[in-house]
Amino acid sequence: MAKPKVFVTRIIRDKGLDLVKEACLADIWLEELPPSRGALLEHVRGVDGLLCLLTDRIDAEVLDAAGPGLKVISNHAVGFDNIDVAAATERGIPVGNTPGILTDATADMAFALMMAAGRRVVEAEKFLRAGKWKTWGPSLLLGVDFAKATLGIVGFGRIGQAVARRATGFDMRILYYDPGASASNPYPSGTVSTTEISSPPPWAGLPAVSTDLDTLLRESDFVSIHVPLTPETRHMVDADFLSKLKPNAVLVNTSRGAVVDQSALYETLKERRIFAAALDVTDPEPLPMDSPLLELENCLIVPHIASASLQSRDMMAFLSAKNLIAGLNGEKLPHCVNSEVYEKG
Ligand code: DGY
Repeated sequence: MAKPKVFVTRIIRDKGLDLVKEACLADIWLEELPPSRGALLEHVRGVDGLLCLLTDRIDAEVLDAAGPGLKVISNHAVGFDNIDVAAATERGIPVGNTPGILTDATADMAFALMMAAGRRVVEAEKFLRAGKWKTWGPSLLLGVDFAKATLGIVGFGRIGQAVARRATGFDMRILYYDPGASASNPYPSGTVSTTEISSPPPWAGLPAVSTDLDTLLRESDFVSIHVPLTPETRHMVDADFLSKLKPNAVLVNTSRGAVVDQSALYETLKERRIFAAALDVTDPEPLPMDSPLLELENCLIVPHIASASLQSRDMMAFLSAKNLIAGLNGEKLPHCVNSEVYEKG
């Protein structure tokens, strides 16, 4: 039997790519940069499966270009705001993602950024390399304290909870707010399955307290963002949100760049209305080199690397290959974001 045809939009780690090559007739995009829109539309034509990255916009036009034979879309990421899931569902196409395996790596990076921004690590290193280190100074490069500080976590899914676990090691007081939670469903949507809820929730032992957003913003010394990008969370961190933060607050974003209104953040940081911000993600990506944010010493920015650990990227490749192959075989995807496609029959 002929192998299914798939398009893989970038070279992923061998742990996944080897599986794809073995099971499929794979057209693999070999360039460092993502395929252009034109190339994407051309390469998806007639494929049975698509393994894409968060840098590819997969919308109705792409699905139409692929044609009716497209059986599965597998995203090499946990976030899937790059995909028009409704358009895929309408066509009965399951969409896979890679949850769970990058939780720890992302939480580690959120914490690393929080500490680096709070203790001015990157600024201090630049200071030293610029030959400005003349002596030990009582007020040189002072940062903010972590021990017993309050950490506010916005979005209490897997990654938010993993950040909370790390904060307990610093004796931090932990507040959380989850836009998906409600009185009738205190467990944030997409966080735990119904079966998991029947056993103690994963954060049962965590001293984390649920609050409304205003309280969290007013009381937290550190605020870490962990919500998915949706129409409701786009620019959730706006001028009003930022105005409620403490003057010495540190804001960290490892979710999606567009959750933050970057102009509002720029004004806030420039006027030193908060202590610092640390961003793993920006809008757009890459951040243009003339972005005013890059002028600020109190803004630390890294290039969307929170999940960039060897183990996580191996597992992201593996899981995205597994999702792809399951879809091609007509099996349920191990991790499907639109399982309603299976209810359609
Ligand atoms: C994801 O998987 O959504 C992450 O942003 C990748 O780093």
